[in-house]
Amino acid sequence: MSYSDFTKAEELLSSYSTKDGLDVKSLMDSNIRGGLTYNDFLVLPGKINFPSSKVSLKSKLTKKITLNTPFVSSPMDTVTESEMAISMALFGGIGIIHHNCSAEEQAEMVRQVKRFENGFINEPAVISPQTTVAEVKKLQATLGFSSFPVTENGTFPGKLVGIVTSRDFQFHEEAETQVSELMTKELVTGKKGITLTEGNQILTQSKKGKLPIVDASGNLVSLLSRTDLLKNQDYPLASKSPVTKQLLVGAAIGTMEDDKARLALLVEAGLDVVVIDSSQGNSVFQINLVKHAKATYKDLQVIGGNVVTREQAASLIASGVDGLRIGMGSGSICITQEVMACGRPQGTAVYNVTEFANKFGVPCMADGGVQNIGHITKALALGASTVMMGGMLAGTAESPGEYFYKDGKRLKTYRGMGSIDAMHKTSKSGNAATSRYFSESDKVLVAQGVSGAVVDKGSVKKFLPYLYYGMQHSLQDIGCESVEILREEVDAGKVRFEFRTASAQLEGGVQNLHTFEKRLHN
Ligand code: IMP
Repeated sequence: MSYSDFTKAEELLSSYSTKDGLDVKSLMDSNIRGGLTYNDFLVLPGKINFPSSKVSLKSKLTKKITLNTPFVSSPMDTVTESEMAISMALFGGIGIIHHNCSAEEQAEMVRQVKRFENGFINEPAVISPQTTVAEVKKLQATLGFSSFPVTENGTFPGKLVGIVTSRDFQFHEEAETQVSELMTKELVTGKKGITLTEGNQILTQSKKGKLPIVDASGNLVSLLSRTDLLKNQDYPLASKSPVTKQLLVGAAIGTMEDDKARLALLVEAGLDVVVIDSSQGNSVFQINLVKHAKATYKDLQVIGGNVVTREQAASLIASGVDGLRIGMGSGSICITQEVMACGRPQGTAVYNVTEFANKFGVPCMADGGVQNIGHITKALALGASTVMMGGMLAGTAESPGEYFYKDGKRLKTYRGMGSIDAMHKTSKSGNAATSRYFSESDKVLVAQGVSGAVVDKGSVKKFLPYLYYGMQHSLQDIGCESVEILREEVDAGKVRFEFRTASAQLEGGVQNLHTFEKRLHN
């Protein structure tokens, strides 16, 4: 019998009782193989009948929040403060602001994200009418720009009384002259709430370089600059509130009594989602806090965790969480499994928790151990809706901290929140922020994380699009046009998997090259 022609190939295929490879349940059967992690398996390719640009990465963060990309930045003090959170939201994900700082500082970071408007300078440098020409010239030299709104008492926000540009003071000889004598008082302003396009029109018509934006009482709220407008990028995927159009932002809190007051400040600042930050989420403290948050703030979404078993998940689902965070011991800076004897390989944890939680419509975030685009796809294929990343985003321009040089490499610090370094900062500042890893009564700090450094990765403004396009190609290879379809087809046994032996994993890496450079994107 010859199998050479096409019809016969299809006929023969349909005579097999199962599809090639394994369904997800057989892959993850821990009685056979024990716990698996992302590197232990692969997804088999499907059929490509759509361009990769068509692939939608839309996915749920919580019951009520859907994001255009499944990317979440971790609440760590070397990963997410307001700058990272703004970029994450602009590119369709979300940042969760860390809590290794005072409640007021954390709330201010939330406010900065909420205040951010693309193209508007949200915290312009301002001067007072009494500022002298010498002082403005000095400011120009240090800040690198030459237009300064003048507010009544020199603070921001404050009542706008004028604007000074280099044309006013550049050739002014008397250093002690106050800007009140030189500034333009007849101002063209924009009203708070105007769109970029409207602002742009006013700038063009008025032929001005800067447009101060004021509220109904004449207080300066932001500034629009003609030079910045030309550089403006559009962010079609941005995560925004459908009501206020402000960027979405999350923040983490601990499970102590004090955290209720912290949460109140965060909500007042405009918080959209709170992540209850605990390495072992199945505790009465967390359950009480979830119930408190759900009862007190009806619009706030609450993510509980961390969990790695369905029993842990059940407790938090019963207490009312809107989302779950999965992972214990899988983080790149984590030594929890070593020290606590507790944890679970991340693939198995994600599969078991999501298989249970998804039945209740509770979206899950796979947290920790994500080292490349393939890991993100695998987490989603195992049932996660989003992935949380620490190490992947550390070392970018938007992560907190200064770059430094070591061994000829440009580096930034990346540390676990349960490292001695991070816990020292907490105990010194007197707040309970890394209570995730220690109790106030602890006499000895037991580290669950390490502190290290990662290589400069450039800006997330390049890195996040790389993740996005990479994921689109990955889903195209699997033959799924969206994250939703991927999840459906995994459940239906249509997307197939293969277990990977240790040597298969070696085969999947670069082999036998004397030297090579691993450049991930241009
Ligand atoms: P990564 O993306 O693999 O670097 O892992 C980041 C995740 O590790 C975070 O989102 C936390 O869940 C977890 N994590 C952060 N700090 C520590 C720590 O000190 N010990 C254990 N896990 C940590």
